Amino acid sequence: MSSGTIESVLHEDRLFPPSAAFVKQANISGMAAYQALCDEAGRDFEGFWARLAREELLWQKPFTKTLDETNPPFFKWFHDGELNASYNCLDRHLKTQPDKVAIIFEADDGKQTTITYKALYHEVCKFANALKSRGIAKGDRVIVYMPMSIEAVVAMQACARIGATHSVVFGGFSAKSLQERIIDAGAVAVITADGQYRGGKEIALKPVIDESFTLGGCEGIKSVFVYKRTGTNIPMTAGRDIWWQDAIKGQPDTCDPVWVNAEHPLFILYTSGSTGKPKGVQHSTGGYLLWCMLTMRWTFDYKPQDVFWCTADVGWVTGHSYVCYGPLAVGATEVVFEGVPTYPDAGRFWKLIQDHKVTTFYTAPTAIRSLIKAGGDLPKKYDLSSLRILGTVGEPINPEAWMWYHETVGGGRCPIVDTWWQTETGGHMITPLPGATATKPGSATLPLPGVIADIVDETGASVGKGKGGILVIKRPWPAMIRTIWGDPERFKKTYYPEDFQGKYYLAGDGATTDMDGYFRIMGRIDDVLNVSGHRLGTMEIESALVANSALVAEAAVVGRPDDLTGEAVCAFVVLKGERPATAEAAKKIADELRNWVGKEIGAIAKPRDIRFGDNLPKTRSGKIMRRLLRSIAKGEEITQDISTLENPAILEQLKHSL
Ligand code: PRX
Repeated sequence: MSSGTIESVLHEDRLFPPSAAFVKQANISGMAAYQALCDEAGRDFEGFWARLAREELLWQKPFTKTLDETNPPFFKWFHDGELNASYNCLDRHLKTQPDKVAIIFEADDGKQTTITYKALYHEVCKFANALKSRGIAKGDRVIVYMPMSIEAVVAMQACARIGATHSVVFGGFSAKSLQERIIDAGAVAVITADGQYRGGKEIALKPVIDESFTLGGCEGIKSVFVYKRTGTNIPMTAGRDIWWQDAIKGQPDTCDPVWVNAEHPLFILYTSGSTGKPKGVQHSTGGYLLWCMLTMRWTFDYKPQDVFWCTADVGWVTGHSYVCYGPLAVGATEVVFEGVPTYPDAGRFWKLIQDHKVTTFYTAPTAIRSLIKAGGDLPKKYDLSSLRILGTVGEPINPEAWMWYHETVGGGRCPIVDTWWQTETGGHMITPLPGATATKPGSATLPLPGVIADIVDETGASVGKGKGGILVIKRPWPAMIRTIWGDPERFKKTYYPEDFQGKYYLAGDGATTDMDGYFRIMGRIDDVLNVSGHRLGTMEIESALVANSALVAEAAVVGRPDDLTGEAVCAFVVLKGERPATAEAAKKIADELRNWVGKEIGAIAKPRDIRFGDNLPKTRSGKIMRRLLRSIAKGEEITQDISTLENPAILEQLKHSL
């Protein structure tokens, strides 16, 4: 674990308390209400979670045990209870609000489709029956590789309905990444589409699946369901591939939910870590769904008349918790958008908010920064008066972007919830509550009730207010990661390291608190980069580069700050052949390597900068000195100690190479 106390250089004193009117109507109304919940959790931790789990979830078999801590860090929640996630998201609304719109779908070309809770329920049941008719059953793993669509939500919900564990792979990942995930998950089926539209362009999906199969090891896949979206001619393999539209033909529109244990894996979602191999983060059913619901009410102050819009793709955890599960479980109307924020122009998000009267808008700082750049005045052309809450997720938001979001998008009246969380946490952990917390630009503020977050030094001792250090969570929480699929040892080592006697959950972020106890997240302390809110492992990109054995002898990847994307990927490469002699030759090889990484991982992982050297800066024992590479990538003077560096001359060479 890299460590060292991180001192915040930011001093942000601007405070934005919620208006009295907002506080009055809020689900958690005022700081006293927040404190009361924290106190309740403090007095009776298990009783607190048990009460909420009974209030929020519909249990087929009630649980009697709340938290099982007998085998840490493999904690179990509500684990003698039984429920079904899809039943909790759909069936529960059939009597109370069958005709309420569940999803407003807007396609890339602007075409709109709405679906009510009742209709969504029937679509999910039909598709669940289609899965069953292909022999897919409880415990099977199903890969979902879909565009943003109503059908993506149907696919996930249908898996949940029959107790199958879905693993959604973001549409931007390559055939190779897909193949690795199919094999690691031991999947039996894939749900995909022929293609998708983004920014006016057609992007193929099913052909990527076919390509992943040619890489080998995917023989476990017996069925590929293909939703016809673009209608482009694609090959279908008889006996294995079936059009979605054909698969649901004649299927009954009801399907009994399969009741599962609260600990049953609802999904596996792969995310990057500090090794070359992505981790299959395994989530539960009961604890996870509880968190989705609570955070809809607490963080987003959900009200029945809201129109909720989370812009995240279902390929990321945000799209799981705040597109597929949270909004439906509480019975919200939500927007699902196929396209991109800049098509046909940079006003698209604002037009969507205006057209659908969105009340709650949740997006990533990168999107905000790129929209400021593309047209900082554009929001003023639209009627954004329906908005009441704004949210951000995925990366730190710089105070300037926060202020623009607050003033230009929110008209100065909407609380901003800067939500800190991770794939592993299942949902929000540290975040303002819109009707209680006075917000500060760039600060995720305070932990949710029952979340025992702290900042510690390398020995695990609290650093105290106003200091920086390592962010940990000191008690388990219901939505936490249960294990890394197929690798419990890695789970234990990564998240409950011996450094803290295996007692604390290590988030992998550095953070600091100010004198009000507000948390400010400083970024990763491990070898993980955050590019446009997407998590990328430097080791993964290094492995991808060296996998090009014809060209690459050695590679090291680091991040550098970037105004737009938060961080940018910088690769230092030693070629097998001669170092390119001209800028033109360097560009040609760099482009070739970028495309290579795109094929190995996906376009999101393509290095922004590639520098070539005869060697890399190493210690005498052969360890790459990444901190020096970070300085070079940033264009900084190297002021650090280089006495252990074996080959100091290499620094000059790398500085001047591009
Ligand atoms: O570094 C933190 C950053 O994103 C990481 C988690 O990435 P991922 O698992 O892909 O999940 C993203 C969506 C939840 C964290 O370790 N991060 C997330 N939210 C914030 C953040 N950094 C600062 N502020 C946030 N609000």
